[in-house]
Amino acid sequence: MDKFRIVGGTPLSGELPVSGSKNSALPALAACLLTDEPVELGRIPGVKDIATMQSLLEYTGARVERRAGTVTVHAKHLERAEAPYDVVKTMRASSLVLGPLVARTGSARVSMPGGCAIGARPINMHVTALEQLGATIEQSHGYVEARAPEGLRGANVSFDRITVTGTEDVLMAAVLAKGETVIRNAAREPEVKDLAALLNKMGAKIEGAGTSIVRIKGVEKLRGAEHEIIPDRIEAGTFVLAAAISQGDVVVSNCQPEHVAALTVKMQRAGAEVDETQAGALRVRCSGRPKAVDMTTEEYPGFATDLQAQYMAWMTVAHGITFVTETIFENRFMHALELARMGANIRIEGRQAIVAGEQRLMGAQVQASDLRASASLVLAALVATGETTIDRVYHMDRGYERIEQKLAAVGANIQRVGETMRVGAEV
Ligand code: EPZ
Repeated sequence: MDKFRIVGGTPLSGELPVSGSKNSALPALAACLLTDEPVELGRIPGVKDIATMQSLLEYTGARVERRAGTVTVHAKHLERAEAPYDVVKTMRASSLVLGPLVARTGSARVSMPGGCAIGARPINMHVTALEQLGATIEQSHGYVEARAPEGLRGANVSFDRITVTGTEDVLMAAVLAKGETVIRNAAREPEVKDLAALLNKMGAKIEGAGTSIVRIKGVEKLRGAEHEIIPDRIEAGTFVLAAAISQGDVVVSNCQPEHVAALTVKMQRAGAEVDETQAGALRVRCSGRPKAVDMTTEEYPGFATDLQAQYMAWMTVAHGITFVTETIFENRFMHALELARMGANIRIEGRQAIVAGEQRLMGAQVQASDLRASASLVLAALVATGETTIDRVYHMDRGYERIEQKLAAVGANIQRVGETMRVGAEV
């Protein structure tokens, strides 16, 4: 199993380019199942979750070709409208094929995701919404089976709470339903907006994506299209924090600064200089320890839960006490225990982490528990004195493209050891 070995203490300097968004690419790839024509998607990141989605599309009978960052999917004939357990257990976002498969073929069989390191993460809201669109759903033997032999019909869907992939799943089902669907309390994340932009290029009629009310007029058929995925805002945020925690001077390029505004505003209050020096780039400078600034995760445009762990890593070396409140997932503080092994002073009280800033962290052997937790350990290691070894970096490979190469290029002393795969070149 691969590990990262990091020796901290070098301020990062140079340019960190951001890849395409994993969480935008996943639903975009699932959306390719909605048409029998080829769809070409640009800026698809070379990360493990994308490789998993590619296998899933191929399992259904779609042809998938990758050339550099461009992936073409041709789902001319679908042989199996199914997402098997073996795939879903490694990537929960596989449930994103439920909506498109039932919309295109009239049936879908998708394994139910089990528990997850960060919370229970059920898909009950996806299921209820698809029932409202007229699908008959049965849950047995660990699978959700959806049937709509006569096709789906438009409906009013109102989510009890905001769900990102739930909104995306319903959007992909509703585009081929008869009549109009209105989604209320829809997720406003940029990834939802990006998916709607792709679907509209394919001939869908969607209005309001990116707001909490989305209207979809169903069409009979979708066509092929070309689309470029948005930059990954979570990778951008991770890099901005890497620059600050290392007390460096870095330009984070190929990003959309407004997508990380909730983070950068806090960082400015904490003492970092973050400037949009040119379109699509943020220059980050930080010359000392930050001031403690409290943070609560929220749905977009609030502070992303996917950046909570990385922000907490920065606050472990702040002047003062930071209250970090996690409102989206019930168990997303696993990184706190590992950060404590590096000398961080963190107390967890329910959904709140109370972080008393320390003057310094110390390198240690730690292990990653999930994707963003691993990113927080890398950030902590960049500022820690001495050597840190991070085990289970396969979590990191699920969502960050060649992170060790990107960080090494701006001066980080980071190495992958026991390398068994090169995800960036794969997929
Ligand atoms: C998406 O997950 C992202 N994944 C996650 O990114 C991200 O953390 C999350 O949104 C929140 O922003 C992808 O886009 C592929 P939710 P998703 O449905 O859609 C509860 C990363 O690190 N809920 O918005 O699965 C749920 O348990 C990841 O890249 C239900 O109760 O999240 C959670 O508490 C991890 N029932 C809350 O809603 C449901 O049917 C929000 O979850 C669905 C969700």
